[in-house]
Amino acid sequence: MTSILMVCLGNICRSPLAHGLLESKLPSDLFYVDSAGTANYHIGDSPDQRSIAVAKTHGIDISQQQVRQFKISDFDTFDYIYVMDQSNFDNVIKLARDTDDFAKVKLILEVDTSTLDKHVPDPYYGGDSGFENVFKLLDKATSIISQQLLS
Ligand code: 4NP
Repeated sequence: MTSILMVCLGNICRSPLAHGLLESKLPSDLFYVDSAGTANYHIGDSPDQRSIAVAKTHGIDISQQQVRQFKISDFDTFDYIYVMDQSNFDNVIKLARDTDDFAKVKLILEVDTSTLDKHVPDPYYGGDSGFENVFKLLDKATSIISQQLLS
């Protein structure tokens, strides 16, 4: 089993979308996908309604996900840890215990060589268009990741 963790700040907007998207593109008997937030603001909550809605529009159900906080043992559980932006990267890297932990952490948009901006913008304080934009960025990135993992 290969395990992949998606991480953002709150685990309600971006990482639940990345989680649902990648999960939809990989066989569940071979791959385990999860998501977490670096902050503890929303522990136990469902994803943001706007993320649930944009995913639903594209045929993906993320409504059953529940927020949890990133924890140090995630470095042991997961083979790959994809973060959404530099702030998430810094927060996760601060918890890395050794070079193996460090090497697992990547900005998710680094996989997409067609984009120069490597940060998935936080849509929390914006409108619905921000969520559609995040969905598109993550749809492309997760397609590339799934192709890499399946090849
Ligand atoms: P996320 O977005 O990191 O993509 O889940 C945010 C969600 C909540 C907050 C910030 C960002 N917040 O400040 O509560």
